[in-house]
Amino acid sequence: MSLLAVRDLDAGYGEDLQILHGVDIDVADGEYVTIVGPNGAGKSTVMKSVFGLTTHMGGSVTFDDTDITGMPPEEVIYEGLGYVPQNDNIFPTLSVRENLEMGAYILDDVPQDALDAVFERFPILDERQSQKAGTMSGGQQQMLAMGRALMLDPDLLMLDEPSAGLAPDLVDDMFDRIDEINDDGTAILMVEQNAKEALQRCDRGYVLAQGQNRYMDEGDVLLADEEVRQQFLGG
Ligand SMILES: Nc1ncnc2c1ncn2[C@@H]1O[C@H](COP(=O)(O)OP(=O)(O)OP(=O)(O)O)[C@@H](O)[C@H]1O
Ligand SMILES: [Mg+2]
Repeated sequence: MSLLAVRDLDAGYGEDLQILHGVDIDVADGEYVTIVGPNGAGKSTVMKSVFGLTTHMGGSVTFDDTDITGMPPEEVIYEGLGYVPQNDNIFPTLSVRENLEMGAYILDDVPQDALDAVFERFPILDERQSQKAGTMSGGQQQMLAMGRALMLDPDLLMLDEPSAGLAPDLVDDMFDRIDEINDDGTAILMVEQNAKEALQRCDRGYVLAQGQNRYMDEGDVLLADEEVRQQFLGG
């Protein structure tokens, strides 16, 4: 049984720029799934499509037994799906706390327990509640973006390149935090440029190229696959 089931998805931009061609992605309840592949493969487009930010051209997206195909983001968010985009994922001129409150804007009141949980998970955000988000480091901004997405306690969190732009010594820390979120029961769908580490950590991985599925298997199996290594992991 899949929590997220992307089936034979065709999607793209504008009237007729098709990027995805028959893509299939599954994420089970509590599973940790990674998508890797070359630049321009359509990895971000998959996530944007799940979140209703592309032009739907065919196929379906089902989440928790609800057909969310083509559903706009302001409706998808009610279904228990969180999304941290690759770029522009915080409000730089708002404070840390205001950013987190924005994560729960669909609720009448800010959920205090969710806010406490985010501060417990990311103590730096607690310490810097009143700091303007745009003045924090890249790693802190990424934590804020994840914290914001966690404010509605999603069943599935989609993370697009969470380690991008981080100093090398912060990359492991970021992956550790994602492990913790997953260990606490939230399913993860992650796109990563840092393919080897991502595949080591996840349960299952997909290799996407030119808008199509190329390989799918357990992360360790993909890592050990000679063809995958040669073509997609730099040997
Ligand atoms: N808003 C857009 N309008 C038109 N074309 C777009 C748009 N966003 C992405 N594309 C195109 O869609 C294709 C796939 O882009 P996408 O961002 O999904 O790739 P990606 O696998 O995430 O790449 P990267 O590793 O560089 O992040 C690319 O050819 C890109 O130029
Ligand atoms: Mg991308």
